[in-house]
Amino acid sequence: MTVEFIKELESKLDQLRVDGLFKDERVITSPQNSSISLSENCDVINLCSNNYLGMSNNQALIEVAQASLRNYGFGMSSVRFICGTQDQHKVLEQNISSFLHQEDAILYSSCFDANTGLFETLFDHNDAIISDSLNHASIIDGIRLCKSKVFRYENGDMVDLETQLQMAKDYRYKVVATDGVFSMDGYIANLDKICNLAEKFNAMVMVDDSHGVGVLGKNGKGSIEHCNVIDRVTMVTGTLGKALGGASGGYVAAPKEIINWLRQRSRPYLFSNSLAPVIVQTTLSALKDISSSNNLRSRLFNNTQKFREGLTNLGFEILNGEHPIVPVMLRNPKLAQDFSQKLLEKGIYVVAFSYPVVPKGLDRVRTQISAAHSDEEIDQALTAFAFVGNELGIL
Ligand SMILES: Cc1ncc(COP(=O)(O)O)c(C=O)c1O
Repeated sequence: MTVEFIKELESKLDQLRVDGLFKDERVITSPQNSSISLSENCDVINLCSNNYLGMSNNQALIEVAQASLRNYGFGMSSVRFICGTQDQHKVLEQNISSFLHQEDAILYSSCFDANTGLFETLFDHNDAIISDSLNHASIIDGIRLCKSKVFRYENGDMVDLETQLQMAKDYRYKVVATDGVFSMDGYIANLDKICNLAEKFNAMVMVDDSHGVGVLGKNGKGSIEHCNVIDRVTMVTGTLGKALGGASGGYVAAPKEIINWLRQRSRPYLFSNSLAPVIVQTTLSALKDISSSNNLRSRLFNNTQKFREGLTNLGFEILNGEHPIVPVMLRNPKLAQDFSQKLLEKGIYVVAFSYPVVPKGLDRVRTQISAAHSDEEIDQALTAFAFVGNELGIL
């Protein structure tokens, strides 16, 4: 029995390799940064991390982390409701909720857990979730776990959203669920229109702002601030694993009754270990930096603008926008693979995405800019793009 099972897996893995869909993990031997060392013994400029504000290897944060290890220890060896809640867990929850203008917040081990722990705890077969077709896998799985009726609308299509809301109108509670920023395209959700429609149909709005928090908005509060809807959304989820230091962890911020209910019933919260003390303390410090200064954000947006303009001037097709996710469209799976391989040989690390991660024909390399990139690194990246673009006959 086991032999057959292992053989079947082997052949499925072989098929992935044949189809060019097998994901190899490149091994990094340095800290995460704008430039990194790879196990192949080379240093490359990193254009594919979510280290938007460059906090993953920030020296001041590392010192906070070291002090935290001394003061709060390494692990909690418990879930929150047994003996896994330190004073700082409560403080981080308070700080996240006030940063996002919500009454309360609850920490999870990841945003994936936050999204999978949210819907089934709050909604049942009487309710409807109206979900953007490009929502993150964790929202999709979260919705699958709950018994609510699902209405899917085409990505960013407000006419379709209205149609779906109309179809869902007789359900008890209705929730529009959307990413704040769609990670493959860097597009920002049209939260203003989403809130208008939700209000028209008496629906709530849930935003996963994993790629928005710390990055977008005048004060870094994310897509909800960027779109001026911070006081119109019911629930916000997000990750601590991108702009906010990049370690791991996630949260839901919402009215206090929602958070209290999640603390009582949300399974990934109740039955999974507390967030490590060092992450809590260091994220508190990262959040303080983000809320008290715009320096890193303005550096990030200068870098992003320079890179977007540079690529456009060279003649590359990029998806429009302002987010530091900058997809370079190649529209052919082999070309995208060759492009990323040749860039690596030139010292630039990017990843190619093809079907089924993106629709057929929309193959691309997705680049991500960081506040940590220097002007020289951006220039060097653009020079390499120009070289490879010419070599492969794209330009
Ligand atoms: C939109 C979105 N939501 C959720 C997640 C999951 O976050 P975490 O890594 O904290 O589980 C990600 C991470 O890729 C994401 O991009």
